[in-house]
Amino acid sequence: MMGFQPLIAALLCIFARLCQGEDHVQIACRSRFYPHNVTCHWTLDEEYRPASEVHAVYRLGKVEKKCQKSNPSFRSCTLSDLILFSNSPYTIIVNASTPLGKVTGRMQFIVEAIVQPDPPSHVEVEQVPGCDTCVHVHWKKPASYTAGDRVQFQYFLQYRQQHHHEGSWSEIPQRKQRANITDARPGAVLNVRLAAKVIRKGKKSPWSKSVAITPWLERIRTTVSPSETTFSCISRHLKLTTQEQAMTDASTGGSPLTVHRVTNLHILSMVFTTALIL
Ligand SMILES: *[C@@H]1O[C@H](CO)[C@@H](O)[C@H](O)[C@H]1NC(C)=O
Ligand SMILES: *[C@@H]1O[C@H](CO)[C@@H](O)[C@H](O)[C@H]1NC(C)=O
Ligand SMILES: *[C@@H]1O[C@H](CO)[C@@H](O)[C@H](O)[C@H]1NC(C)=O
Repeated sequence: MMGFQPLIAALLCIFARLCQGEDHVQIACRSRFYPHNVTCHWTLDEEYRPASEVHAVYRLGKVEKKCQKSNPSFRSCTLSDLILFSNSPYTIIVNASTPLGKVTGRMQFIVEAIVQPDPPSHVEVEQVPGCDTCVHVHWKKPASYTAGDRVQFQYFLQYRQQHHHEGSWSEIPQRKQRANITDARPGAVLNVRLAAKVIRKGKKSPWSKSVAITPWLERIRTTVSPSETTFSCISRHLKLTTQEQAMTDASTGGSPLTVHRVTNLHILSMVFTTALIL
């Protein structure tokens, strides 16, 4: 049970706002570029701002290093040359001199537990010709990682119908950098987003911006005018199924194959005419 004196002290602290406890500096650490470095950011509770002087150090076991003052405001510290898979945690300690006295913040972490990459980059969606419930999605590693990095990622792909905000996201976990959605609703706009996670370490990245796509639509008898927006979603990979369509496309400067054939015919007829003359 809490004694009487500590209770009084705590109350006095709250009212006087003059405590030198460890509760007035909030520290958050994240390894966004694992295994290269860890960055810790700190903020002072509002009533303790501005700090006239800040000192920060980090420790692992008996080794202590000073954080370099990165910029005049000095609100973060980056630790590099990390000791990975250490059993003992890193400790970061931040001291600040404030108008209300000195305050200290302290935070402990194991590097592997605070790994959190950026979202995947280059998220792209494509229609799958011939399938009105399918969408093909591909993406790249988080932009902060280069080809030289050996880090392995796991990805989380989520999708749901647009304008269905209360609807929950369906999720596909994935190790590759591509996936096929096969249960989209025909004709409906689908939103797709991705997160990345370093395999077996830390937590998922934030979600990427979501990308919208309408699955491939079959071009049918419909009476809708071609200027209607539904047609803008029709795949360019549409196969020409009838002669009629092939001719329409050729006349509007369509597929190179048709043009080629026309040219061949032209040459043939020239050869034929030449032969006749001779
Ligand atoms: C952390 O490491 C990454 C990858 O090597 C690098 O791009 C970034 O600049 C480093 N961060 C700091 C603050 O040094
Ligand atoms: C922070 O303050 C504590 C208590 O005043 C002191 O023992 C410690 O050396 C200080 N650390 C830094 C990095 O200034
Ligand atoms: C997705 O579908 C495309 C086209 O149908 C196919 O070529 C590809 O192999 C599929 N990819 C995956 C990851 O299933």
